[in-house]
Amino acid sequence: MKTILITGATAGIGRHAALDLARKGHHVIATGRRKAALDTLAKEAGSLAGRLDVVVLDVTSESSIAAAVSAVDALTDGYGLDVLVNNAGYGQMGPIEEVSDAVVRRQFDTNVFGLLAMTRAFLPKMRERGRGRVVNVGSIGGRVTFPLMGIYNATKYALESISDALRNEVKPFGVDVSIVEPGPIATEFNDRAMETIDVVDGSPYAPVVAAADDFRKQFESNASGPEVTTRAIVHASLARRPRVRYVAPGYLALMFFFLAILPTRLVDAVMRRVSGLTAKNLARETSSTPVSRKIAKAA
Ligand SMILES: NC(=O)c1ccc[n+]([C@@H]2O[C@H](COP(=O)([O-])OP(=O)(O)OC[C@H]3O[C@@H](n4cnc5c(N)ncnc54)[C@H](OP(=O)(O)O)[C@@H]3O)[C@@H](O)[C@H]2O)c1
Repeated sequence: MKTILITGATAGIGRHAALDLARKGHHVIATGRRKAALDTLAKEAGSLAGRLDVVVLDVTSESSIAAAVSAVDALTDGYGLDVLVNNAGYGQMGPIEEVSDAVVRRQFDTNVFGLLAMTRAFLPKMRERGRGRVVNVGSIGGRVTFPLMGIYNATKYALESISDALRNEVKPFGVDVSIVEPGPIATEFNDRAMETIDVVDGSPYAPVVAAADDFRKQFESNASGPEVTTRAIVHASLARRPRVRYVAPGYLALMFFFLAILPTRLVDAVMRRVSGLTAKNLARETSSTPVSRKIAKAA
């Protein structure tokens, strides 16, 4: 029985993986900010073969992380974790020019600094024991950048290089580091990402942002279920030889192959066309209603 802490387990990818690992007989410590969602999860896991404990945790709060370290020590009699799954995150959308520094910092605080702080907090016991795993949930957006998702993608690119460095730094101490790179997965992620978009009145990007609802529909029609990410997280957590990278679903790895061989100008032209970033489209008149409100109403 492995002890596995998952951040962002109140919903989506983290929640699905938490239940599956508990079903497989492991001791899961499911964390997130929403206490009520954690309590519901604990109830749902009550009859499973393993054990699932819940701990309220905000990865952007030093004191919350310190409290989680104490809670884990208490739950494991000082043993700590076998596996840390850094999954908590959200997607900040919007044109680079219009996302404020405060909003960018908030995005990095959760997706990057939160992951770093969690890793620093739980790695020492693994290293001292000479055994352990860190599984970082990145994104295919950590290997390819999409327009209007540049800030989010930047956090996931950061996660790639942090994971690559960490993997070699801790391998001599017996700790493995893997990256799970989901494509579109049907969770709360997309709705939450859409809620982050806002455009100022008179924004030159308004026509593109106003069409973001089409993007939401496209995302939903292409999305896989969270079982594909759970398979990857379970393998990275438990397999004798965990892989360095898991693209989930696996067939999306083909995209990286094509992106590597196609000319960047061609890829850019496709990206602009798909996201409506054409001169003709940008010249369109739109209402000045912030798109987040329009989308919230439509949902
Ligand atoms: N779904 C996708 O299409 C997709 C694609 C690529 C990558 N990903 C990545 O997969 C991971 C999980 O996303 P998801 O799809 O499962 O989205 P989700 O359904 O929105 O779940 C996100 C989870 O992160 C938690 N979270 C957010 N901020 C947090 C914070 N400050 N501290 C602690 N927990 C926090 C949320 O819990 P609380 O709000 O309760 O704290 C929630 O449990 C993210 O890192 C995301 O970037 C998702």
